[in-house]
Formats: sequence, structure tokens, C-alpha cells
Amino acid sequence: MSQATRQDWLAGRGRALRGSLRVPGDKSVSHRAVMLGALAEGTTDIHGFLEGEDTRATARIFAQLGVKIETPAPTVCIVHGVGLHGLRGSNESLDCGNAGTGMRLLAGVLAGQAFDSVLVGDASLTKRPMRRVTDPLAAMGARIDTGAGGTPPLRLHASTGLKGIDYQLPVASAQVKSAVLLAGLYADGDTVVREPHPTRDYTERMLATFGWPIETRPGFARLGGGHRLRATRIDVPADFSSAAFFIVAASVIPGSELRIEAVGMNPRRTGLLHAMRLMGADITEENPRDEGGQPIADLLVKYAVLHGIELPAELVPDMIDELPVLFIAAACATGRTVIREAAELRVKESDRIATMATGLRTLGIVIEETPDGAVIEGGRFGSGSIESHDDHRIAMSFAVAAQMAEGEVRINDIATVATSFPGFTQLATGAGMVVTGVAGPAAR
Ligand code: S3P
Repeated sequence: MSQATRQDWLAGRGRALRGSLRVPGDKSVSHRAVMLGALAEGTTDIHGFLEGEDTRATARIFAQLGVKIETPAPTVCIVHGVGLHGLRGSNESLDCGNAGTGMRLLAGVLAGQAFDSVLVGDASLTKRPMRRVTDPLAAMGARIDTGAGGTPPLRLHASTGLKGIDYQLPVASAQVKSAVLLAGLYADGDTVVREPHPTRDYTERMLATFGWPIETRPGFARLGGGHRLRATRIDVPADFSSAAFFIVAASVIPGSELRIEAVGMNPRRTGLLHAMRLMGADITEENPRDEGGQPIADLLVKYAVLHGIELPAELVPDMIDELPVLFIAAACATGRTVIREAAELRVKESDRIATMATGLRTLGIVIEETPDGAVIEGGRFGSGSIESHDDHRIAMSFAVAAQMAEGEVRINDIATVATSFPGFTQLATGAGMVVTGVAGPAAR
């Protein structure tokens, strides 16, 4: 992030959260809808598309590869598919911005193309591990060079043919699973992925929606190459991960009673609900229904007194993006919360264990960092200046914490919030939170 564009938040004690709100569309679904829409035959209409920087970067890349994409209205995206073999190579590198999902899934798609591609990202993405995708793709016959240490940029050489593999994932990762399955569309024979723990299954569900034969059961997926994707309509549910900030805020701010509408309830995403209920949260799922093949519900969240828990490790993959805000809930609870088997947090947009521990300590919370998690003692937030490390979920987690703080909290470098949650400040302020955008210092 350049110094000229640095943006911070000043946040402080808010009032009880009241009323109803709706958070933007799901990031995971929006990325995949553009990708499969681009590779399909015909025109795919995406409704509820996340107009965030991450998903816009993916759309821009497909435009660069020759796909016509229109956005006739906010959150509507129309993708004129070019078919599985219709992409055109670009002489320019393809900029994924901050998006790990964009880069890893695109690696799968581009591994099977007849042209070279170079995938690049911002400073945060350029530090993230890519061998987890390049290794299985290489086993399928792809030729990909990474930067030193297995990080971006990724240089993908024109494919000379891929073959299917039977791949046991070493870590539970929907991004790795999806990269292998997407490469499998271009492979000879069957591609099989096996997961140590089931992860979000949007790629599998969406491939089926686009008419690609796929066999699935929890933790397992198999598909063969050589079929066609047929354009369809995609309705993107509201992003559970964005709703999570309001779920925790309304649970910890006394007097709150907030309804979050039409939230995506894919069971591989909703681990936070289980964790919060174990802590004593009062969350009701209202009007559960199906929209565009996805389970959704309205969530009514009321203030409750929370207590610390030992977080069951099997919940971790189902709430991997919600753990930073769970740290905040734990700091607001009585007693101790223990989080284990969450080492993946160290390779997200920032090292989320370290950034959360440092920030919570700044606000006066007692927290012990462990290699794969943390032990957090409930306490009271003071005031201070938090480094977000350009990590959107860290910034929003501390905006929630600030609502319970005794003094002012400054959260540095919040521009990346726009990657996943454009409009967070307005929505949060409208619900009762105190969070204001300010220009950061010109020089640091
Ligand atoms: C995502 C998968 C998760 C998650 C990320 C989005 C996806 O990453 O953290 O925000 O859309 O597939 P991993 O698969 O690396 O755990």
C-alpha cells in the first residue's frame, strides 16, 4: 500500500446494534461464478456479485484473457463465456491483487491452457505459499515456475497436456482442492481429490450447476476431463464471513438485537455459529431457505454474556476466516479460550495469530501465542493503535473490539477492507458502531 493512499480508522465505543442489515455477496462464490462463467458456453448472469477488489481482479483477468464481462448494475455481472478452450493469452501479467483464492484457482485454470501466463499479486499475496497448488499441478503435467521460496509470481508455461491424478491433500484447503479440480477439466482421465477434513464445496456444487459431471461425498470429489460447461444463472448469497463481524459485535455489545438478512449457510462455512453458541451466544436462524441451490437464513443475534471455551479443533476448517473475530469474542468473554490446530492462520493475508496477539496485547488483553493457535484471557479493552498489516479481516475484527474499548482505537491501513467488504464503514455505522475513516500520516 503506498503511503499516499494510506487510510486508517478511528473507532470507539458504539451503541447497541439494532435493526436489520444485509452484507455483500460471498467472495468464494463470486470468484468461482466468474471463472466458470468465462469457461462456459453461453451467457452467465451473476446476481449478488461481490463488487470487492478481489473479485473485480478476477473479472479483470478474464477480460484480459478475451472474455466480455458486463456490469449493468451494481452486483450484477454478465459473463459471455468463451468455452473451455476459448481463452486468449495475454502478454501482460495477470494481477490477482490481494486474492489468494483468485491466484490459486486461476493457477488451476491456466495450467491447462495452450498459452503462457504470469500471475502476480500485491505485497501480501507475494508472500503467500503457492507450492501447495504448484506441486499437485506439476504432478498433473503442468510446468509452473514460482518465485524463490515457492511464492508468487507464478509463471505458467503453455500446456502440453495434463493427466488426471488421485490427490490426497496434505492440508484442508478449498483453494488447493479447487485448483486441482479446475485443472482436471483439461486433463485426460479422472481427477480425484481427498481432503483430511471436508472444506467449502462451492467449486464442486458450481461445476454440477454448470452441467459438468462430478461425483462428490464429504472429503472426496472425482471428475473426468472432456465435458462442456453450460452457462447458467448464479445467485450469490450474502457472505457468512462478512456477517461474522456483526454476529460477534451484536453478541458482545450490551443491549444489541440485530438481524442479518439472507446469509449464506453452507455448513462448511458456519463453524463460528457453533463456536459462539458454545460460548453462550444467543443466535437464532430464522426463515431457513434455499436460494439458487444454496442454503441461506436470516440470523437474529442478541447480546449475551459469553464465557471462554476450548475450541473443538474439528470446527477450525469450517471457520478458518472467522477465527480473527473469534479472538475478539474470546477477549470479551469471561475466563479463558484455547484455540488449537489453526496453524493455517499463519499463512493468510497476514500471520493472523501474530497480528491478533499483538493487537490484543496493545489493547490490554492477556494472550499467549502458540505455534498453532492462542490462549486468550477475557478482559477489558483499553485504547491504542493497531497494525492491521494490510489484512482486511484483522482491521474489521479490531473495529468490532473498539466498540467495547474504554478509549479510542486507531486501526492502521484499512484500505484492504475493500477487497472483501466494500461499504463496511457505512453498514457498521448505520447499525450503531463508531468507526470513521481518516487519512493516515503522510510519512511513517
Ligand atoms: C477460500 C478458501 C479458504 C479461505 C479463503 C477462501 C476459497 O482458503 O481462507 O478466504 O474461496 O476457496 P484455504 O482453502 O487456503 O483454507
